[in-house]
Amino acid sequence: MRDVYGREKLSTQYMPWAKRRSHARYNLATSGLAHWKLRDLPVKIDDLEISGPSYYGFEPLQNALAKHCGVAANRIVAATGTSMANYLAMAAVLKPGDEVLIEHPTYELIVDVALQIGAKIRRFKRSESTFSIDLRSIKASLTPATKLIVVSNLHNPTSALIDEATVKELGNLGVPVLVDEVYLDAAFEQKPRSAGLLGDQFIVTSSLTKVYGLSGLRCGWILAEPALAERMWHLNDVFGNIPAHMAELASVIALGELPRIAKNVRARLDLNRAALWKFLDSREDLEVFRPPFGTIVFPRLKRGSVDRMCDLLRTKHETTVVPGRFFDMPNHFRIGIGGELEPLEEGLRRLGLALDEL
Ligand SMILES: Cc1ncc(COP(=O)(O)O)c(C=O)c1O
Repeated sequence: MRDVYGREKLSTQYMPWAKRRSHARYNLATSGLAHWKLRDLPVKIDDLEISGPSYYGFEPLQNALAKHCGVAANRIVAATGTSMANYLAMAAVLKPGDEVLIEHPTYELIVDVALQIGAKIRRFKRSESTFSIDLRSIKASLTPATKLIVVSNLHNPTSALIDEATVKELGNLGVPVLVDEVYLDAAFEQKPRSAGLLGDQFIVTSSLTKVYGLSGLRCGWILAEPALAERMWHLNDVFGNIPAHMAELASVIALGELPRIAKNVRARLDLNRAALWKFLDSREDLEVFRPPFGTIVFPRLKRGSVDRMCDLLRTKHETTVVPGRFFDMPNHFRIGIGGELEPLEEGLRRLGLALDEL
């Protein structure tokens, strides 16, 4: 579909919903961990400053990100969240008319970024039961015009993991691969190596937003081979010459605290996942792939309308989940388990009521 200027119409439906309609007393729609507070970090007012030496990266932040990711600092491009990271990564590789092969289902904004760049979208399907990727079907979808493959690992909306061997094989198809790893640290000790360590054909995006509950810092980054990284820095010049320095300073401090935050997150997710499994065990009307880690799951409602159920859940039971229509899978819905245990349990109880009333 085309807009009034004759451009391909963006499909963005999810973000306006997420910003305007996902908020509720019991919010199970969020995919990240509940927000950490500034006072939970060892930040003193004297640690912060409005302006500083931040040009193509702020050196202490570049070094802290390099350490966190296990790569040299010249392979890191700092970005405003994974959102901007995905934009810079795609804009550096794609030109109008190029094809990009994107997994289905996916985070809708990934498709929208490619559309904004003027790329042609092709999709490949993840498997129905385990949401794994099938290299043969990806290979079959490639054409001479395909200039980029895009996957998320862990997968949004299912938390399915692509193991390291499969990621490597993806990298052997002769096309650059963008791996959005914003949820990967939620696999904890089962986490494979980042694709950014597996070869120059990979471009990786991530941030401290989801797993660490630090979304407001907007501390995102891209891992890419140095020449491509340089191209991304220059693309980013268009969006402003200077980043928010206070956020950079606080991000350096937050990166030093990640082991402590991760421990807390791990404990929370383990408790919350047990509550979620208990709820799902009690429901015969739901079918679900159960990932051993991650912050989100994506059940399928066996009968009835997910949209109707979500409306009922929100208006009558003050609880939200994400309707599957935003992932082009209208019989599914996404549940996030990154909040505190008690509201999660109450939200799940209310979800059960809405399902029963349906
Ligand atoms: C797969 C994926 N990538 C990127 C983002 C955006 O992340 P950020 O808040 O770091 O911009 C999201 C947010 O939900 C996401 O699910």
